[in-house]
Amino acid sequence: MNITYKTDKALPNEQLYDLFVSVGWADKNNTTQSMIDNFNKNFINSTIVISAWVDEKLVGCVRVLSDKMFRSVIYDLAVLPEFHGNGIGRELVRRCKEHYPDSEWLVQTTADKADFYKHIGFEVNNDVFLTVPCKLF
Ligand SMILES: CC(C)(COP(=O)(O)OP(=O)(O)OC[C@H]1O[C@@H](n2cnc3c(N)ncnc32)[C@H](O)[C@@H]1OP(=O)(O)O)[C@@H](O)C(=O)NCCC(=O)NCCS
Repeated sequence: MNITYKTDKALPNEQLYDLFVSVGWADKNNTTQSMIDNFNKNFINSTIVISAWVDEKLVGCVRVLSDKMFRSVIYDLAVLPEFHGNGIGRELVRRCKEHYPDSEWLVQTTADKADFYKHIGFEVNNDVFLTVPCKLF
């Protein structure tokens, strides 16, 4: 399989939306056209965006917010289900880490996905994670 990786931040809204739907992060019954038209805003506003492509099809994405030195946080790592198990998720994270190799890398995820991150070299730390929840979703 010929997978191409890109760093453009302005990912195409429709394809990004379809990718989010495919992994259960967006709900087709609860989305307006205006939401789709703005779907890539948080990617555009991120420090790093890496996307994976097969021909013209967006098959994976990840974004990072970073101070470019000490601390970098991974968000929205997603691979189309039919492309799982091809090393795309691992490669997307590897390419992120390559930008700031000495930084601490953080990710917030669910218990079932923690095993993926552990498998690619992340460790659980015991800091308490506090939040004021987002009001947009
Ligand atoms: C998590 C996700 C990004 C993994 O992407 P992927 O491209 O299928 O993963 P890779 O093929 O790169 O897997 C790399 C390694 O991790 C392993 N792995 C993949 N998913 C795993 C999981 N859920 N638990 C444990 N190990 C896992 C693979 O077996 C592979 O191991 P190997 O290199 O020893 O063979 C993908 O399953 C996905 O998009 N899930 C839905 C969205 C999501 O939950 N994102 C992460 C939360 S922020």
